[in-house]
Amino acid sequence: MDSVQLNNGVKMPVSGFGVFQIEDRSEVARVVYDAISAGYRLLDTAQSYGNEDGVGDGIAAAIGDGLVSRDELFITTKVWLNAAGYDKARSSLDDSLRKLRLEHIDLVLIHQPFGDYYGTYRAMTELYRGGVIGAIGVSNFYPDRLVDMALHNEVVPSVNQIEVNPFNQQIEAEHWNSKYGVQLEAWAPFAEGRNKLFTDPTLLRIGMAHGKTVGQVVLRWLVQRGIVPLAKTTHIERMRENLNIFDFTLTDAEMMSIAGMDLGTSQFFDHRAPDKVEYVNNLH
Ligand SMILES: NC(=O)c1ccc[n+]([C@@H]2O[C@H](COP(=O)([O-])OP(=O)(O)OC[C@H]3O[C@@H](n4cnc5c(N)ncnc54)[C@H](OP(=O)(O)O)[C@@H]3O)[C@@H](O)[C@H]2O)c1
Repeated sequence: MDSVQLNNGVKMPVSGFGVFQIEDRSEVARVVYDAISAGYRLLDTAQSYGNEDGVGDGIAAAIGDGLVSRDELFITTKVWLNAAGYDKARSSLDDSLRKLRLEHIDLVLIHQPFGDYYGTYRAMTELYRGGVIGAIGVSNFYPDRLVDMALHNEVVPSVNQIEVNPFNQQIEAEHWNSKYGVQLEAWAPFAEGRNKLFTDPTLLRIGMAHGKTVGQVVLRWLVQRGIVPLAKTTHIERMRENLNIFDFTLTDAEMMSIAGMDLGTSQFFDHRAPDKVEYVNNLH
């Protein structure tokens, strides 16, 4: 699979696999193993998903069976709010390394822009400089928070993982992240199927023209925008389907048609809404 080059020179696959909302340890291990055997190399987990141990099991099994070597994989985790601040973040990352059964994590992100995330970032920066982490970044940072982080840290975030899908295209965020050399990753590229994404007439029509599914059209649209999608599925056939996006190109007219689907709002929630800030901070 092709790679994008991050602002620190590290290479990251152009398309990845996420394991949000898969909690049972053996099921997570099975899904990760299947994803690697289907061809995925970028795996995205988080402390808050409660499944880093299952991800570690799946990776160990895939390496043990000779499907892949550690250096071919690109593993991401994220520091949750209950570990915000320098000391707690440092020790939470020791836990992540142990659960993932890794000596090196390719990318660590601050999961949410809440709490003492500057302290979190200092701990991440230290591990990055020590070579334990390959690249550091943020998630759910709207342009104002992203610019602040970039201006007040020696190590500019390499990645910002935000919701991007045809209903929430993040055009303004794309501008500001690009200005600071921050690679965008798309979470919920299918909006988790909300707003009838998988039966949307525009996406179906474009898919028909290429002999592709709606899911493939959406992932291709993101890759053509230079955004790294993270798709989640527990089904191996869909993993293969979601990876089979490198043998066709959307035309300018098709890209424009999808651009016309933008509603400019989240399909989930706005991280700047005070009641949602309360909600997310109360999750742990
Ligand atoms: N940073 C953050 O705050 C944040 C937030 C959310 C997600 N994420 C990351 O982004 C990843 C993806 O986001 P997500 O899991 O929320 O949502 P998503 O990838 O947009 O949607 C997943 C849903 O789509 C279905 N699906 C997948 N491929 C399909 C296909 N080819 N055809 C039909 N249905 C298909 C899956 O069903 P089945 O599983 O039944 O196949 C699942 O219900 C996560 O796993 C996580 O790594 C990060």
